[in-house]
Amino acid sequence: MLRFLPSTLAAAAIFTTQCTLSVSREWNITCEKHSSYGKNQILECSKLMVSFHQKATVGKLTGVYRKYNTSKYGNALRCEPASFLLEAWF
Ligand SMILES: *[C@@H]1O[C@H](CO)[C@@H](O)[C@H](O)[C@H]1NC(C)=O
Ligand SMILES: *[C@@H]1O[C@H](CO)[C@@H](O)[C@H](O)[C@H]1NC(C)=O
Repeated sequence: MLRFLPSTLAAAAIFTTQCTLSVSREWNITCEKHSSYGKNQILECSKLMVSFHQKATVGKLTGVYRKYNTSKYGNALRCEPASFLLEAWF
């Protein structure tokens, strides 16, 4: 993720979260205006975030995943990855 600008990561994190929590699948004109990013500029980064989310349960490094298995963090681990984003295009 180091190749992305912090502002790109922030915008992509908001978009990925909206999709993950079923708030919205759209990156509308309001989102573009306030982030100054178009969907085509954040989709690649969002797809990577989804792929990391999908892999969070497997392998040896599941500490972060397990950390979010508490009410302190809103039981975020129960959220399913927004896998549909991996097939999304712009
Ligand atoms: C754009 O989407 C956000 C949620 O992502 C929503 O709050 C906002 O009202 C939407 N704006 C328009 C113009 O549809
Ligand atoms: C999450 O927490 C519940 C209840 O504490 C536990 O039963 C479950 O095994 C935990 N899941 C993971 C992946 O740690």
